[in-house]
Amino acid sequence: MFQAVNEYSRDDLWKKIDKEFPEGQLVCEMPSNIAIVKYWGKRDIQLPQNPSLSFTLSEAKTKTAISWQITKNPGDGGIGVDLLYENKKNIQFEERLRTYFSSIRELCPFIDLVDFKIATENTFPHSAGIASSASGFASIAVALMSLFKKFTGIQLSDTEFYEQASRLARLGSGSASRSVFSSFAFWGRHKAMNIGSDEYAMPIDDVDPVFSTMRDAILIVDSSPKEISSSKGHRLMQEHPFAQVRYDQAGKNFEQLYRTLQNGDLESFIQICESEAMTLHALMATASPSYTLMRPNTLEIISRIKSFRKHSGHPVCFTMDAGPNVHLLFPEAVEHEVIGFIESELVPFLENGQWINDRVGSGSREFLSYA
Ligand code: PMV
Repeated sequence: MFQAVNEYSRDDLWKKIDKEFPEGQLVCEMPSNIAIVKYWGKRDIQLPQNPSLSFTLSEAKTKTAISWQITKNPGDGGIGVDLLYENKKNIQFEERLRTYFSSIRELCPFIDLVDFKIATENTFPHSAGIASSASGFASIAVALMSLFKKFTGIQLSDTEFYEQASRLARLGSGSASRSVFSSFAFWGRHKAMNIGSDEYAMPIDDVDPVFSTMRDAILIVDSSPKEISSSKGHRLMQEHPFAQVRYDQAGKNFEQLYRTLQNGDLESFIQICESEAMTLHALMATASPSYTLMRPNTLEIISRIKSFRKHSGHPVCFTMDAGPNVHLLFPEAVEHEVIGFIESELVPFLENGQWINDRVGSGSREFLSYA
């Protein structure tokens, strides 16, 4: 498909855009996701060291508005990108975006034929401490794929569209590759199972209904910026003494979780989910230099979740991203009891009592519109 567009000369494509769509705007909204089997460690150009598996959320989204205008100087090699992040100029993000656009020039040959003004904002509170790179890059990638179709006139099936959107999203942030799919998705090749690709994520459709009702209460322990970024964390895996053991373990957990999603075994889900979360943070603690992103309240909450599960018998469990906040996962059937537990036992350990009531995304959504 991309070969097809490369057959256009740049001049022809520029003339076509200038004549048919010299300017316009589109808005794209995409959600974040939470990984159950984690991606931690990468190689080459944003390729994962192990397959990962997540579900996309429903409420925690990034909304990106992209305005474009045909550039007057198509040959000058510059990338025209202006960025407003949460209504403010953000030079650091703008630079990151420009580097990203430059890295995907070959995949999106219109990138240096138009100038972009991009405004992006999150639907979750600014201080929620939720990584917005997955939803942010997914929204940009889906918008760019839509422009790709519009500008070139090339027809794409849904599968082709999302495969390429996921590839583009991955080049911005690895975990973003999974956010272009609306519920369970995986990214990475699993050799023994003979499935997947390191270049883009794929949806998992045949999931037991109990998992399609999964809730995610995002418990905000600390919303301050992370001391060590995920990019640095991935880099530290290169020299990590447990790296190979981790990649092997992730492969096994992935295989077991994939089957668990089909057979609806909540006990197995809980066991893999918590083991993956603790492993991620153990890898940080045993990296060189060592670091810890969990806070005392993170541990207090984890301990209370385990004891609530033990005493109530409800199938609740936790996971964490690369940060101090806790994602409390549970099926819809026990929502009432779990919300009571959060309000009475966990809220005192949260920053300003903050938590977000989210859930696994549903298959259908309106996420893209042209002005
Ligand atoms: O996509 P990145 O580079 O921000 O890395 C994300 C890593 C984790 O969130 C910790 C795990 C994952 O698979 O999402």
